[in-house]
Parts: sequence; structure tokens; C-alpha cells
Amino acid sequence: MDPKTAELRIRQLRETINGHNYKYYVLAQPSISDFEYDTLMNELIMLEAAFPEFNDPASPSQRVGSDINRNFEQLPHAYPMLSLGNTYSRQELADFHNRVVKSLQEDVQYVCELKYDGASISLTYENGRLVQALTRGDGEKGDNVIDNVKTIRSIPLQLKGEDYPEKFVIRGEIFLPHEGFEKMNREREEAGDPLFANPRNAAAGTLKIQNPRLVARRPLDCFLYFLLGDKLPFGSHYDNLQKAKEWGFKIPAYMQVCKSIDEVYTFIDHWDTARKKLPFDIDGVVIKVNSYAQQRKLGFTAKTPRWAISYKFRAEQALTRLLSIDYQVGRTGAITPVANLEPVKLAGTTVKRASLHNADQIALLDIRLDDYVYIEKGGEIIPKVVGVEKSKRSLFSQPVEYITVCPECNTPLKRKEGEAKHYCPNENGCPPQIKGRIEHFVSRRAMDIGLAEATIEQLYNHGLIGNQADLYNIKKEDLINLERFAEKSAENLVKSIIKSKEVPFERVLFALGIRYVGETVAKKLARHFKSIDNLQYAGIDELMAVEEIGEKIAESIIQFFRDVRNQLMVEKLKDAGVCFSIKENEEEKTGNQLQGKIFVISGVFTKFSRDELKDLIEKYGGKNAGSISSKTDYVVAGENMGPAKLQKAQELGIPVIDENDFLKLLE
Ligand code: IVH
Repeated sequence: MDPKTAELRIRQLRETINGHNYKYYVLAQPSISDFEYDTLMNELIMLEAAFPEFNDPASPSQRVGSDINRNFEQLPHAYPMLSLGNTYSRQELADFHNRVVKSLQEDVQYVCELKYDGASISLTYENGRLVQALTRGDGEKGDNVIDNVKTIRSIPLQLKGEDYPEKFVIRGEIFLPHEGFEKMNREREEAGDPLFANPRNAAAGTLKIQNPRLVARRPLDCFLYFLLGDKLPFGSHYDNLQKAKEWGFKIPAYMQVCKSIDEVYTFIDHWDTARKKLPFDIDGVVIKVNSYAQQRKLGFTAKTPRWAISYKFRAEQALTRLLSIDYQVGRTGAITPVANLEPVKLAGTTVKRASLHNADQIALLDIRLDDYVYIEKGGEIIPKVVGVEKSKRSLFSQPVEYITVCPECNTPLKRKEGEAKHYCPNENGCPPQIKGRIEHFVSRRAMDIGLAEATIEQLYNHGLIGNQADLYNIKKEDLINLERFAEKSAENLVKSIIKSKEVPFERVLFALGIRYVGETVAKKLARHFKSIDNLQYAGIDELMAVEEIGEKIAESIIQFFRDVRNQLMVEKLKDAGVCFSIKENEEEKTGNQLQGKIFVISGVFTKFSRDELKDLIEKYGGKNAGSISSKTDYVVAGENMGPAKLQKAQELGIPVIDENDFLKLLE
């Protein structure tokens, strides 16, 4: 085939496939069979491979997902990603409405939408092309997960029509429909992988997978519900969303303009029942003022818009039988009793397990085996048992006898004064605790080694790792023979382990997982002691002389280094080349120019990330505070600083400086 014919055919195929994608994923009206679709896609992939000069990042073939692993880039949100005020009560909703009316002094229209329960995403389009897809992150900057997002067929890579703004942001929720979620968990169960507790966790987890090809296999979907930009076509939320539908976005139809608060109540009442039949999870209704002019007039509080609110539904309950109780051992040795249940449908998914919290809770609710128990889905966690239907209890039932030894290593359990949970004290010999510490060690903010929980389990079971230091002995040949490892993934892991030797001392210290030594304490210790040798042999007084280190932390550090196993591990890590002292150039940068000064930072900066700025403040002797008070010395403001913060700083007469002024303070 000559290039001209190929180019033409590639264009035709892309258009045809885009058309089918839209019909299938957005309209849910497929027009060809899967086989026909695959045939077209295969032809496109082959042609693109043969004629790379016609490659296009917006081609539908890109959705198949490339197989490269990469870390996500953190980028600032062009508009901060705020959350919504929550309410569960009619009264608070009425209060919201009254505030709106009082402040506007005119009629108001609301748009009622469903509150989709997934992971929020912020998409940027330039000249009709998807160029960025950021997770919420901390609201000010997020991870660019664009490669993963491209695998979601209902998100257009290239917009239709021509009347879209040159640049705009559209936000929505990435979610997993029930059917896809259950299928995925079935597959995970068969593969021995840990199950996802609910579709939201599964969607959020999937978005963060470092391998787009794996993401492409998960049936993620995305509803869009919020547009931002300078040149949006209409002056109201509803009209713009309807327009965005024409550009190819999946704008949910579950939406209604309401002219009165009574219409809002009717919408809520309808969905409180109807939600049970939806093929995906929602956890409430979002109510937004429709007119942008009115939205602007109402403005924002520090964290949330005053023109929108979410009304959350109360959790649904289900009644089912308690078959048995498992006891799980967490990373810190804490024991959690988990109920095995007769499978039951709850809020759209089938539930087989639920948390029983601890021994006291079991006693308090008087839960017995074979009882019929009420279960409920909590905000974040897996379902929990919330009560017993005593009328269905068997006459011969006996109270639960709580375990006394660790189910993993048989060590007698302990319980500390004032703590609800039992725990296994065998820190260094109990497998889940060992694996937990390795998980912490490799995590992103610690050594940042690309190693999933399931892989740690696999390496541990094969005897390749017994503690953190063993990671540095792993060779490619050890991995290749293992299931799930291929040449490339083995190589990547080894590379990632080698790269971790560049991680600075303060993060290594955090990675060691010494009790109470979090990121901030680790930083303080690293800066003070400068090397592990100095720290390891420090006495309690020396430790407590460091700012913010009290007796509890100091004792924990001493206890850690007193344990021969930890001493050996540190030696091995040292031999492997892990960084155990502050590098000279890191040290040079410090000074005491900001000694005792309290800073609040707000907004997004161009020269630094927020974390870098906070680090600098600390390195030069200053302190970071989360909110402005009369004690604050400076507010360092970046772009998009919250208006409430600015106002507060002005009221208190606190200087608001930008990053350049800040740098001058360091001179
Ligand atoms: S609007 C400033 N609409 O709920 C308003 N949010 O706290 C921005 N959510 O994390 C949000 N469904 O991810 C909006 N129809 C909907 C929504 C929705 C779900 C999520 C969103 C955010 C949270 C709000």
C-alpha cells in the first residue's frame, strides 16, 4: 500500500471507530458486533505500525493502552479543585436555600444532579484535544493520569464539531459500574489478588495503576458534570453541559433544572428509592445554582462554593446471616475481626464480608455465630456489621469467643490500656507485619520502588525478601522465573530498586518505619543528626533536644536501634548503598534567616511545588502553619490563592508575599 492510500484509510478507520465508540460508550447503542469492531481496530493498529509518520496521540488505537510503566507527573490545577458542603438533612438544605435567596435577592434556579461515587477527574482540552487529566490530589495539584484516562472509551480524545472553546477544563467522576466491578473482583479472587472493597476504591485504584494496558482492561466509565473556562458558550451550568454533550462528552441524563426548593425535594425523594436500580453507585444528590452570574455573586468559602451543596443519602442496610469470623492481622499487628456472611445485595453489589471492628464491639452488639446481622456501607470503609436481629436468633446460640493468639504466627495477643484493638506483639516474626513494613518502605513518599502489594506477597512467599534490606539482593534472574514477571517487568523492578539508592536520607529514615517517625519527624532528625551513625547512638536527652521530639518518639527511636535485627538491617542497607547521611549540597542550602517565623502558604507556585516551598521554610528555620492566625508572620501566595485566606490576611494585617519576595527573605 502506498503512503497516500494508507493515510486515507487510516483517517477513514479512525473516523469510523470514533463513531462506533460514541454510539457504544456514550449513547449505549452499539451499531456493530464486537468482532467487526475488533477487525477495524486491528486494521488501524497494523496500518499505524506500518506507517508511523501518520501517528496521532488522539487516534482511537491509543486507547488500547501502551505497556510502559511510568510515574505520574504532578501538575497544578488551573482552577483549584474544591469539594462540596455536605448535608444529610432537609433542614440544612432549607438553610442553604435561604442563604442563597437572601444573598441574591432574586429568583434562583437549581440544577439537581446525582452524586456519583467514584474518583474525580479534571480534564483539559486544547483545540478540541485532550491534553491533560489530573486527579484531585490535594486540590491544588494532582497527578496527570492522562495515559490511563485515554483508555476510557467514553472520554473523547478529540471533540466533535467546531464550536468548543480553544481551551477549557471539564470535570467529572470516573467510576466502575456494578457489573464491571463484580467481574473484576471475581477475576481477582481467582488470581489470588486482594479484592477491592467497593467500586469507588476500585476506580480510584485503577486510575493510579502504572500500566495503561492493565487499566484498559478494566471497564471504567466517566460522567462529566462541571465546566470551567474563560470562553464557555453560555451563561448557565445546564446549557453548557448540554452543549458539551454535542462535543461528545458523556453528560449524564440524570439531571434536572428545578425552579423551587420543593422540586429539589421531589428529585431527592425520587432518587433515594430509584438509586437502588441504578447500575452504578451514587451517594447523594448535588444541588447547584444554575446561573454563572449568581454563582459569582455567591462566591466561595475557604473550601467550598456557596452556590452548591450535596445532599447525602443515608447508608442502605441489608440483613444477612453471619457464617463465621476471620481475624485479620494488619501492618502494625492490630487484629480486625471480619464477618463472613451469606452473600447479600447491598447498594448494588454483593457483600460477603464485613468488618466487626474489635472484641468490644462484638460484645456490645452481642453478636453470635449464625445470627442475622444488619450490615451497612460506611463512608470510606468496607461494609460493617451494625446490629443484630435478635428475633431471628437460635435458642442455642453462644457468645463469640475472641481469639487469644495471632492467627498468623500463634503469638499470644496483647491489648494496650485504652486501646480497643488486640495486637500481635511479634513484630519481627509475624508475616503480615513484615510485609506491611516492606510495603511502607517501598511506598512513593518513602523509597519509591515500584512494587505492588501482591508482588511483595509473592516475593515474600518465595523467600526472596524477609525484610527491607533483602530487596537490594534481588536479581533479574530471580524474578524472571516467577509467575507474572516477564523480562521487562523484572528489569524495571531491579532498575527501580537501584534508583532508590538516590533517595535522600530524610526519606530513607521515614522509610525505615520507626514507630512515630513520620515524614516531618524524619526530616527534623535528618537535619539535626546528619547521618544514621549520629542518630543511632544518640541518647534520650540528645534526641529530645531536637525540636518537636518528645519522650515518646525518642524512646521509640532508641528501642528501634537497640534491636539487633534492626541494626543488621541498617548495616545491610548501608552496604547496598542506600543513602544514610545528608549530602553536602543539601546541607549548604540551610540557614537561619527564617528562624521562628511562621508561614502559611496558599495557591500554586511556578518555581516550587508546595512541598518544596514548605521544605525550604523549614530548612531556613521557619515553621509552616495550615491556617492564618494573628501569630502568622507571612502568607506566601501563589496563583489561585483562596479568596477567604486573602481576606483574612488583610484583616489581620499580615504581609502577603509572592515566591520572589520569599526568596529575597532567604538572602
Ligand atoms: S460538582 C465545585 N457534581 O463530589 C463543585 N461533584 O465534594 C465541584 N461529585 O469530589 C463538584 N458527583 O468528585 C459535582 N454531579 C456532581 C458530582 C460531584 C460526584 C463528587 C466530586 C467531588 C465531590 C464533591
